[in-house]
Amino acid sequence: MKVVTDARDLPSACAFVPTMGALHAGHASLFILAKSYSNHVVASIFVNPLQFENKEDLASYPRTPEIDIEIAAASGITHLWLPKQSEIYPHGYRKLVAGSIGDIYEGKSRVGHFDGVLTVVNRLFELIEPKVAIFGEKDFQQLQLIKTIAGDIEIITAPTVREEDGLAMSSRNSRLSPEGRIAAQVIYRGLSQSKTEVELREILATEPAFTLDYADYIDEKTFAHAQSDTRDIRAIVAGWINGVRLIDNMPMGIRA
Ligand code: PAF
Repeated sequence: MKVVTDARDLPSACAFVPTMGALHAGHASLFILAKSYSNHVVASIFVNPLQFENKEDLASYPRTPEIDIEIAAASGITHLWLPKQSEIYPHGYRKLVAGSIGDIYEGKSRVGHFDGVLTVVNRLFELIEPKVAIFGEKDFQQLQLIKTIAGDIEIITAPTVREEDGLAMSSRNSRLSPEGRIAAQVIYRGLSQSKTEVELREILATEPAFTLDYADYIDEKTFAHAQSDTRDIRAIVAGWINGVRLIDNMPMGIRA
């Protein structure tokens, strides 16, 4: 595996996995999936300041550079790209605006977050022009928005990787206390055991350590509230434990 900082040293038409580091088994699963699309797999690590609406969250975002290199190398990617901020955001770079789906749910609680995500992903795409890019389903709203700016780049969706107790893997999980880590099980319990939005909220309310932001059954494409005739329903949840923001989602078929 080559570690590079300059995008000009990367192969074109690669399979690309953008990340913000603090890599874990969820990222490794994306890297492994990427290998089935190209002999050249590039992963980037760039903690994008533009997508943090809150300076404290940016400062406390986990950073584990040595472990990241080990995980990336072990999963067999060919290039690890550590771009410099000046390469990503040169003078006059184009800022993207996420639009109406970018203003609800995650976008409502984290104002400007999706503008920042789309801006960085667009810059990363411009710099290396991948053939395909792989994104995890855990950040479902992000994934749907990225599809709108991908152009000719094929977006591949990878299933959420979970801990044994069902908690979705996330770099932020490392910031939970041991008690918080146990309390976080309520999210998967709610998603996997509920058949309606009301049941989902009832299950989440059984855990006092969990502060709810939203828990809804939505139409996967429009993010509007699911109706009795909605075909593709997804349950989405966000909240905080120990001040750590956790999000998750699950397809619910036509059960609502
Ligand atoms: O999902 C993430 O890790 C980030 O939002 C992404 C897509 C790498 C953009 O910074």
